[in-house]
Amino acid sequence: MLIHINQERRQFHLTNGQVSYIFHVMKNGHLGHLYYGKALRHREDFSHLQTYDVPTGATTHIYADDPAFGLETLRQEYPAYGNSDFREPAFSVNKLTENHIPDFSYQSYQLLEGKPRLEGLPATYTEDNAEASTLQIILKDEFLHAELSLTYTIFRDKPVITRSASLKNIGTEELMIDRFMGASLDLPDKDFMMVHLAGTWSRERHVKERMLEMGIQSISSLRGASSHHHNPFLALKRPEATEHTGEVYGFNFIYSSNFLMQVEVDHYDTARLMVGIHPFRFKWNVKPQSSFQSPEVVMVFSDQGLNGMSQAFHRLYRDHLIQTQWKKAVRPILINNWEATYFDFNEEKMVNIAKSASELGIELLVLDDGWFGKRNDDTSSLGDWHVDLNKLPNGLESLANKIMETGMKFGLWFEPEMISPNSELFREHPEWAVGVPGQHYTLGRNQLVLDFSRQDIVDYLYDKMSAIIKETNLAYIKWDMNRNMTEAFSQKLEVQQQGEFFHRYILGVYQLYERLTSEFPRVLFESCAGGGGRFDPGMMYYAPQAWTSDDTDAIERLKIQYGTSFAYPLYSMGSHVSAIPNHQTLRKAPLETRANTAYFGTFGYELDPLKLTEEERKEIKDQVAFYKEHRNLIRDGQFYRLLSPFANNETAWMVVSEDRSEALVGWYKVLATPNPKKHQTLRLSGLDESKAYQVAGTEQTYYGDELMIVGLMLPTEFNGVNGGNFERGGDFQSQVFYLKGTENIVN
Ligand code: DGJ
Repeated sequence: MLIHINQERRQFHLTNGQVSYIFHVMKNGHLGHLYYGKALRHREDFSHLQTYDVPTGATTHIYADDPAFGLETLRQEYPAYGNSDFREPAFSVNKLTENHIPDFSYQSYQLLEGKPRLEGLPATYTEDNAEASTLQIILKDEFLHAELSLTYTIFRDKPVITRSASLKNIGTEELMIDRFMGASLDLPDKDFMMVHLAGTWSRERHVKERMLEMGIQSISSLRGASSHHHNPFLALKRPEATEHTGEVYGFNFIYSSNFLMQVEVDHYDTARLMVGIHPFRFKWNVKPQSSFQSPEVVMVFSDQGLNGMSQAFHRLYRDHLIQTQWKKAVRPILINNWEATYFDFNEEKMVNIAKSASELGIELLVLDDGWFGKRNDDTSSLGDWHVDLNKLPNGLESLANKIMETGMKFGLWFEPEMISPNSELFREHPEWAVGVPGQHYTLGRNQLVLDFSRQDIVDYLYDKMSAIIKETNLAYIKWDMNRNMTEAFSQKLEVQQQGEFFHRYILGVYQLYERLTSEFPRVLFESCAGGGGRFDPGMMYYAPQAWTSDDTDAIERLKIQYGTSFAYPLYSMGSHVSAIPNHQTLRKAPLETRANTAYFGTFGYELDPLKLTEEERKEIKDQVAFYKEHRNLIRDGQFYRLLSPFANNETAWMVVSEDRSEALVGWYKVLATPNPKKHQTLRLSGLDESKAYQVAGTEQTYYGDELMIVGLMLPTEFNGVNGGNFERGGDFQSQVFYLKGTENIVN
């Protein structure tokens, strides 16, 4: 049993032996929070876990005869504002005509096996009811004639609980929501480091940390996308927790638009965490007999450090978020022509690239931006989804066939959500662009955004894209999105409904994804937003891989991929080997290092194979063969971060197979050290202590405990005088070690 319910005391305990989440109904009928963390033994009564003490000082209390009962000091599940809690609330809702302080009281609960889907929204799912249990709590506000439903799902074999909320208007008058979080969590203390992922274009998801302090600390996006700048991920870790040990709570929001994740620390040092749609500019009119559903919040608890937290996210997304057909599918090694040609290509060039790449063992060719309309640079044609016959005179179908004749699959780039002012579509339908009529339209990369809150526009894109998928027998689509939203206004919505725009827009995007992925389940989607500007679990539900960053520099990618791995599995990260000097940093990392970084993701190339030397071609052939040999391990294995690029000149990480019989270790050193230390080792993780592992390419075997306690010996480094006797040296060096378990110790 995953959910214990004490009906008499009205207490709820969700536990799977790894985590416990406990709450109850308080005397005012609201839900009070009791505990969240490492699993507790179940008992009949947990009410003593609620601190219940008469507060000193200027505090408020609800009942004349009970000065200890004030919402300012009680931990709650989904707090409101207005009657004695002065912190920011989880929600705010009212009638349009009369004022009222929300007062939702417990009505009933419902217990479900498995997990219901969220209508129109990406969310985790179960395939078998035994994988999870769900508890829905219904609360009611008699004055508003509204039902608030809080949904909690606990997964059987993972330290994961998901939450969401919905509000149903059961009356006859319209209601207006202007704040509606997916989850709120009151923690009893503030002794946490807040860890989050921040950056910008070409340096996304760098790891940031700060201690919680009294006041509000938050990360957010108001860009109409989850953004390059803040990822909808946040962790609270105990200060002493490391990658390998200690307590960490991780939160991820399954949403791709404006979000808010905040922690409010009050004067008693309690910490209130909140995750949801950003309330700024958000308003939702809930018509009688209709509902509003929040997106889902994923909550992970780990007592095995940050790696434990990440592994739980990775497993959850592999088993319960990524679409079924991609869970175990082999992701093709692809070559993308963007950095090879930019807009300057034609059929002959593409076919030659395909032939040359196919000889190297590469499996899929992606034709990136510039194949449609008259797009020779980024100033035109978005929206004109018909082939440019100047570049591809025989059409797309012919190109696709020629590519497939080389033995490669064919993939295509789209940016469906955009419209160029210089396009046939804009000339025909200027009102399809997002913007306030009569006001200036701000450009981003010379383009405007299509109003995806409109059904007719979503339908139009569906028709265009599905026709091309059929015509070309597409195996893959890169769905790009290269600007954030300004003048967010839909010409189809009433003025008083414009607060719904951002959310309606992303629902339109989700709908198009849903229709295309269900109609064409064999097409692999890779999401992209100027690189990693929408790398979030909402997108991952439809597109199992995402272009991690436009920055393909292997050294910068150490930071980006390290940070991304906090929440997202390796095989969701598009990672490619590109040419040098690198187009984003001008850095010249060796080809070996470029591949050694890119292996830890969904591997590919972003260069012109026709410009390679024979020696480079040989090396790339070997890289492709190496990845093919190990890609199942990279897809299914447990990932461990070992050395952080944010703290060290060295980075290291590894993947261990579930049965711990093999592992792949990546080690990287950014700058060379003169006269380096003699004894250089790398301590590994996750191995079987009693198994002997052979390091591929050497005769050396180590036992698992040696590798984890003493470490893997790193090959001899150049020290200025060891002439021909060194195995590595120089800047940007790296090595990937494959360890194969050979035998168990016989005692
Ligand atoms: C941004 C993407 O991240 C790139 O990979 C490329 O597809 C360009 N857009 C094309 O315009």
